Formats: sequence, structure tokens, C-alpha cells
Amino acid sequence: MLKTISTFLALLSASLVASAQPAAASFDSATKVFRLDGGGASYLFGVNPRGELQQIYWGGRLAAADGIPQAAPLPEWASFDSSYSTTPQEFAGWGAGLFVEPALKVSFAGGNRDLVLHYQSHTAAPEGFDVLLKDIQRGVFVTLHYVIDPESGILARSATIENREAQPVTVEQAAAAAWALPPARYTLNYLTGRWAGEWTLTQEALHPGARVIESRRGSTGHQANPWFAIQAGDPDEEHGEVWFGALGWSGSWRIAVEQDQLDRVRVTGGFNPFDFGYLLHPGERLETPVFYGGYSANGLGGASRLLHRFETGHILPRTAATAGEALPKPRPVVYNSWEATEFNVTEGGQMALAEKAAALGIDRFVMDDGWFGLRKDDHAGLGDWYVNPEKFPRGLKPLIDRVHALGMDFGLWVEPEMVNPGSELYRKHPDWVLNFPGRPRSEGRNQLVLNLARPDVRAYVLGFLDKLLTENDIAFLKWDYNRNWSEPGWDQLAPEDQKRVYVEFTRNLYAILAELRLRHPRIEIESCSGGGGRVDLGILRYVDEVWPSDNTDPFDRLTIQDGFTYAYAPQIMMAWVTDSPHWLNHRATSLSYRMLSSMQGSLGIGANIAKWTGEETATARRLIAAYHQVRTTIVQGDLYRLISPRGGSEFSATQTVRQDKSQSVVFAFIHSTQEGRVFPALKLKGLDPAAQYALASIEGKLRPGTPASASGAWWMNHGLEMDDGFRGDFQAAAFRLDRK
Ligand code: GLA
Repeated sequence: MLKTISTFLALLSASLVASAQPAAASFDSATKVFRLDGGGASYLFGVNPRGELQQIYWGGRLAAADGIPQAAPLPEWASFDSSYSTTPQEFAGWGAGLFVEPALKVSFAGGNRDLVLHYQSHTAAPEGFDVLLKDIQRGVFVTLHYVIDPESGILARSATIENREAQPVTVEQAAAAAWALPPARYTLNYLTGRWAGEWTLTQEALHPGARVIESRRGSTGHQANPWFAIQAGDPDEEHGEVWFGALGWSGSWRIAVEQDQLDRVRVTGGFNPFDFGYLLHPGERLETPVFYGGYSANGLGGASRLLHRFETGHILPRTAATAGEALPKPRPVVYNSWEATEFNVTEGGQMALAEKAAALGIDRFVMDDGWFGLRKDDHAGLGDWYVNPEKFPRGLKPLIDRVHALGMDFGLWVEPEMVNPGSELYRKHPDWVLNFPGRPRSEGRNQLVLNLARPDVRAYVLGFLDKLLTENDIAFLKWDYNRNWSEPGWDQLAPEDQKRVYVEFTRNLYAILAELRLRHPRIEIESCSGGGGRVDLGILRYVDEVWPSDNTDPFDRLTIQDGFTYAYAPQIMMAWVTDSPHWLNHRATSLSYRMLSSMQGSLGIGANIAKWTGEETATARRLIAAYHQVRTTIVQGDLYRLISPRGGSEFSATQTVRQDKSQSVVFAFIHSTQEGRVFPALKLKGLDPAAQYALASIEGKLRPGTPASASGAWWMNHGLEMDDGFRGDFQAAAFRLDRK
């Protein structure tokens, strides 16, 4: 299985875009300085005279001719803080009096827990290094991997820990990387939330001490996302220095942002050390996740634009249809049945929805939960992945054929890692779930978590999904995951090995996804976890899109989408238009407002379209057609968050510019007009100042006298002014500009 993953990843990297700017990875053997340059960034580290690997610099790109002296350890700060602790090490072992967050903490057989890692050797590649460290006495080896993206300057860092001792070694804490920043006044940005309220951008000044963002849940989680951005000074969308990072791991994770006693900042992230313990038998290795880090001189907006391009160009998988292409295709416009029919799916009902969906111009029809086993509600069915014979007496084929005949492809909902106790699978294999023998098994949404770390469970999950995709013409899976772990026991293994579950579960998830994509090279997959509970750069190597939130209220979505885009690209951000008044907030909004809110991402319709009036159908049809024309710009262009919806803002606006600057799309929203205030002029960004751009309305009007065509300089300096009549509650407008 491992071999298949590496083949898959090799295929992925083979399809990466040719770089615009030459990367530089150089090592100066006289000063022992490693240097990585990419995009607008440089990253430097070196071997200090004591033999430790020390960070030297991370920030704006340095001149090629800059001669960098050898890394110099920081001095001892009184007898209480040794130089080992104050020096920003690339990957510090816990030992020798380290008081800051260690990158690696181990326990040797016999009780010794002192680990001091020194440089041994390295190998160089055009875009990076593998640097080997070793404990000063014992056979614990760590290879640090560095790869820089020449275009964005985003650096991928990870570590391989190897036990060459004769006895087992327990890894108690293992980071993927530690990043360091010099003393300054900083603002930390991170994303927090809850079910139906994900992606809150939280901003706070960094103070001495540690701010820990984490998941102990076995998966990424809604409550915090493994992303951070640290800005020098106060938060600013378009100006100032920002250092950002994202961890590629879908299991329990932790990022600790520390400001130490000398005001230096360290960000250490990787496996969550809580309840962690990975026993490395002699000769065994542990690979950490990858921690990506980047630098922008153009504020939080600049940072997210770099990340978006990197994700779309270098992280997202390619299907057979897009292999070799620089970018994946924009997502098809989907229809999803969930909010319309919930569990009550039938052949007739779904066919009726499919007819309506096709008439709207939908590309992909997705049948959500309810089609399998004895699934009538959320008490039964999970684990029994056969087609429900009452709801679909002729199987899925007639529905899929009808969907194809209507010119759409077909997608299906699955939740492979879960089981309801009221299922045949659970009756047959009660030992397959995460549990501590003899203890209660806590349920969430009436379901238990299968222990995917077990080889038999992995084989079962891969087997039923492979069969489903082999027997049915399915283009897309919505892969759901509707609870977090409890009682994470794995009693098949020896007690000292059982905590491997934290690593092997997630690795097996990735392995199944990779294997499915190899066997079914046209399949596309969405990562959903009751909304945005499993979104990270780990899962995004294997899935094409994510479901950001179960909250589809179009007003809430403005903030949810705003927060989401700080870390993730609109390309992967699915956004459905659903019914009004909305089920969550009971807020009524116009269809046009709902459409425009969703059109800022990858558009879908999740409403009960069977009930739509002729007028609603016509509005949706018109706006879907308009969306089809500009969607590449929206989901793959450079995003500028012109006015933030955060903090109860009266207005909000976004703009995206196609990467070749040939097109731009602008969205404007009013929450609630007060005191007759007019919408602020929108000074556009990122256009070619010398080019002429023709303006066209997608929805809404501009002030009389707005030119039909003007230079990029005009639109960026004078800006767009809305028509005076653009007032009221929950109003929306959208415009496009096309270079002539
Ligand atoms: C989760 C998903 C929803 C829907 C339901 C089905 O909550 O986030 O979109 O698929 O499960 O049970």
C-alpha cells in the first residue's frame, strides 16, 4: 500500500507546473549555511559551532551576492536559560535544558529521555535539502526534509525519525517543523469555530507565553484549523510582512505559537503530543506530516493569494482528465439533494430533481445521504453499503442513466469510516470500532468510528468503495465524517503499540483515497466532515474540493467564506444555494442574494428546486449561465477581500483577477443599509493599469455615468461606484471586467 501512495505522489509531482522563477538551494561549505530562495522569500539556516542546526533568517528575498556568516548561537540568559534553549534551532530535541517547545521528545529503553540533535550530513536537490541529524550519543537519527516552491517561496518541511538503537524508543512528541521569527510586535491570525460556525478569523496580539491551536479529536476538527499567519504590527489586508503556515495532517494535530522570554517567536507544529506515543522498534521510522510555511510582504491578502496558487498548482490532485495540466479544472456546478430530501431519497424523487437540475444548467447531480442499507434516519445504515431495495428497487443504474441522459454526471454520498450499532456490519464485527474493551462506547449522531488503522478494516473500506465505483458509473464521491473519536483503543496490538492509532488511522485514510484514485482515475472526491471538520493540506492531496460548513445561510456564508479564504482557495470551496427562510437562522433572503453569495466560490444548488417558481428557475438559470462564463476567474484567480464582512460590517466586497489579468469579477453585498449610507467606492486591485477593461453587469447597476470601458488604472484609482438605489437589507450585486 505504501508503494502505491508513493507512486501516486510521484505522479502528482510529475504533473506540477514548470516554475517561472529559478529556485535556488545552495549550501556554503565554508560557513555551513543552507540557503533556499523562492518567489519573494529566502530561508536560511546553518550549522552553528556547537553542531546544532540553527535558523538564521526567514523573510523577504535577499540579494544573491549576500555573504552570510555562520550561524551564531544566542547567549545564555542568566543561569536560568541556557544557550541551548535561547537559540532558535531548526528541530530541537528535548534535552540539555530546553525550556521552549521541543520538536522531538523521546524516551529510551531504560528511562533515559535526553536527546540532543547535531548535524551529521546532508544531500542537496535543485529545490531543497535533506539534512541528517543525530543524537550526540545514541542511534536516533532525524532527517529534515526541505523543498521550496520556486514560484511562491512556500517551503515544505517534514522530518523522518529513525531508531537505530538495539532497543525500542518511544517518540512522545514529534513536530513536522519549527519556524522562528525575531523579536518584534506581532499579530497572530488563526481560524476557529464550531459546527455550522467554522472559519472565524481570530486575531490577537502575540504576548509572552504560548498560544496552542490544536485538535485532540482524531481528525482536523471544526474548532481550529491547522493554519496560522503572523503579521508584523497590526493586521493589514494588503500591506506589511506576514509569515504563514499550514500543516498537512488530518489526524490530531497541534501548533504551538510561543513568544519566549527573549521575545523571539517560535511556531512548532505536528502530531498532537496529547495521548501520543509511537514506539519505534529497532530499525523503524516515523514520518511526520508536512508543515508548509511562506512569507508575503503584501499583508494577509498577499499571503492568502500565495497559498491559493500553491494549493491549486501543487497540492490538489489531478484526475486522468487533468493529468499534466498546470491547474485542475474549476469544479462542476453541482446539485445536491441533502437539504431538499434529507434521508427521504427515492428513485422517482431523485429523478424529478434531476430533471429540474438539468433545466437550470447544472453539471453534476449528487445524491446525498439515505440511499443505502436500512437508512431512514441517522440511527441505522452506516456500514451496510448496499443499495436500499425499497427506495431503489432497480438499483442505482436507472437513476444514473437518467442523470447522464440529462447531460450531467453523477455523484454519491458516503461515510466510509463510520458504523451505526444498528447495522449488519456492527453485528458481525463489533470489535472493528475504536474502543477500550469492557468500557462504554460513546456514540455521536448514533454512530461509532471504525478503527481504520486495522488492516482488515482498511481492506473492507477500500473493498466496498472499489466495488461501488466499479459497478456504477460514479464521477464523484462526497466523503463524509460525522463525529470525532472517543475511547481510541486498538486492543489488537501490544499495549505499548496501541497509540499508533493516531498515525496509522490517518495514513490508512490517505492510502485508501490514493488507491481509489489509482484504480478509478476519473473519480473526484469531496472532503466533508459535518461541514468543514476535515479541511487541511494533508487531505487536499487526495480530494478535489471540500464542504466548508453545513451552515448554508447566505449571510453567514459571507463571513464563513471570508475566513475560509485566508487559508484555502475558492477552487475547493463548495457553496450551495439553499432554501429561504434558512433552516438555521430563519432568515429570508432573495434568490439573487443567495446566488451571488455562493457564486464567490465553487457554486452548487442545494435547494428544493422541485418547489421553485418559474421566476426563481429563470433567475437561477440566468445566473448559473453567467457563472459558467467567469468561474475560472473566480475560483482560480487572485482574490482581493476589498471590504470584510467581519465584525458586523454593513458592507462587504470581494474581487478576483484572473492570473493573466484578462478578467476580473467583483461582488458587493449590503447587510443592512443604515442612515441612507451609500455603498463605498470600490477601488479595484491587481488589474493591468495600462490595459482597457470593458465592464458588464452580472447582477445590479452602477452609478449613471460609469464608463462602459476604462483603463485598469481608472478602475483601480477611481474605482466602481454602485447605483444610488443599491440599498436595503441583504442586497447583492456582481460585475465583470474583460480586458479588450
Ligand atoms: C453531514 C453533511 C451534510 C449531509 C449530512 C447527511 O452533516 O455535512 O452535508 O451530507 O451529513 O447525513
